[in-house]
Amino acid sequence: MSRAKKIAVLPGDGIGPEIIDEAVKVLRQVEKVFGLSFEFQFAMVGGGAIDRAGTPLPQETLELCKKSDAVLLGAVGGPEWDENPPELRPEKALLALRKELGLFSNLRPVVLYEGMEKSSTLRPEVIAGVDLIVVRELTGGIYFGEKTRQKAEGGEEVATDLLIYYEHEIERIVRLAFQIARGRKKRVTSVDKANVLESSRLWRTVANRVAREFPDVEVEHMLVDNCAMQMVRRPADFDVIVTENMFGDILSDEAAILTGSIGMLPSASLGEGSFGLYEPVHGSAPDIAGQGVANPSATILSAAMMLRHSFGYEEAAGAIENAVKHVLSRGYRTPDLATHGQMAVSTEEFGDRVVEELSRYE
Ligand code: NAI
Ligand code: MG
Repeated sequence: MSRAKKIAVLPGDGIGPEIIDEAVKVLRQVEKVFGLSFEFQFAMVGGGAIDRAGTPLPQETLELCKKSDAVLLGAVGGPEWDENPPELRPEKALLALRKELGLFSNLRPVVLYEGMEKSSTLRPEVIAGVDLIVVRELTGGIYFGEKTRQKAEGGEEVATDLLIYYEHEIERIVRLAFQIARGRKKRVTSVDKANVLESSRLWRTVANRVAREFPDVEVEHMLVDNCAMQMVRRPADFDVIVTENMFGDILSDEAAILTGSIGMLPSASLGEGSFGLYEPVHGSAPDIAGQGVANPSATILSAAMMLRHSFGYEEAAGAIENAVKHVLSRGYRTPDLATHGQMAVSTEEFGDRVVEELSRYE
């Protein structure tokens, strides 16, 4: 057996601890069934950390993450901290973690599982076969560019946000997208606004240069407004979508509705090496926290992504994904997905079913 993989577990706020419990339970079953070894170390983050340690990202938590092989995070935030000043906001921890850990890429796979067509607000024939991944640049662009706000002549206020990209920032995210495409349908859609933005023209030039390293992968360029439209018109045609920070933020939320519930969507945030941070796309859902009804799928599927991307345990990752698929196809649903005639199960029972499915591999 190889050395135990060190996993920093940050449950966070709201439903965070409930969904993390299920993901850890599933990982313990994976250890048993596949003969793997994980070392879990828990730490505070978000609102709970503000209350207990006076900061959303305590130094010990950051240190723990840095010496781990991967981080599994629940969610942060809640109404208790909404009035706090910016540096004492739970969400501050997420931006700080991404920056401190050099996590420049955000992978959001969007897969419509069998039998889930009725859970989306889009027509079943439109979403049939959806299996795409959004590869979003995470530490550059307009979110991190210089911001100003001042009084202009005449007394009105003027504000600016700088959209800035260096070649190396574009190159590393686009290359990752092509590498991912090689393991999938070998199609990359690079999304920009090259008809208007200079940073997008650079993006396109770099994307074309990287594309030459991958002659086996098909590449198309799409303007972001058109992409927003195609995403709901013919979503099943997409394979890998790569784009800059803000476009990726918006497009990946749009893509989320293709699957029916935000409780289904996992994510991975990666840097240069194998280290990564894995978390569900959704937030802390304070409206349902403490009731044992949250859908743990997104977090369990994030754990699967961790096995694949950070540890190279492809077989175990696929087994978790298949287990979630089977549990859903057997009709077990948490209330966010249950339509009439289906069994609504608790967070814990859903996790138990996934564990049970995995015992087939023993
Ligand atoms: P949210 O994603 O927490 O909830 C939106 C809606 O989806 C709610 O009705 C919620 O009940 C439902 N929902 C979310 N996850 C679910 C799950 N696993 N199972 C079943 N239903 C689920 O977004 P919202 O309400 O805008 O934000 C709540 C808090 O979470 C805020 O403090 C926000 O800042 C924070 N947040 C944190 C994120 C993170 O930790 N990465 C991301 C997004 C929001
Ligand atoms: Mg967003």
